[in-house]
Amino acid sequence: MDNPTDSFNQKLQEAISNPKNMGEMPDADSIGTVGSADCGDMLRMFLKFTEKDGKKIIDRASFQSFGCQTAIAIASMATEMLKGKSIADAQNLSAEEMTTDIGPLPPVKIHCGQMVEGALRSALDEGETPQLDSIDQNTLASSIANPKSPAGKIKITITKPEDKP
Ligand code: FES
Repeated sequence: MDNPTDSFNQKLQEAISNPKNMGEMPDADSIGTVGSADCGDMLRMFLKFTEKDGKKIIDRASFQSFGCQTAIAIASMATEMLKGKSIADAQNLSAEEMTTDIGPLPPVKIHCGQMVEGALRSALDEGETPQLDSIDQNTLASSIANPKSPAGKIKITITKPEDKP
């Protein structure tokens, strides 16, 4: 009988071997950055919107991660799923749905999915105001070193396990 952990690890490795949409998006309309209190990892999500039939939808999404490989794999899958979604549909996208392809996350990795979900929510809710000249300078590394950017534009949300229902 297949060990579910082996199957999860194999699918995770497949997702990690070719992550999609990794990197900054200089023309992003909104950015969400979240740090996990569980492990100190961070993830930033970039969203670009467009309009279709008079409705605002997500044209594309990308991410930067100072996180574990699970977070990278989930963010990769999530950014693929987000293309063409309405804001309402994206707001309803849960970590469980993002990981449908690899199966349920083991308990120690649940916060990795919550971090990706949190970065998406942050980008959708209010997000950070992208500053074309500051995106280059405000890397994830500088955000960690200086959570309040000089211009005060970068908001970092720390997720805690108890934030989840
Ligand atoms: Fe912290 Fe995965 S171990 S995000």
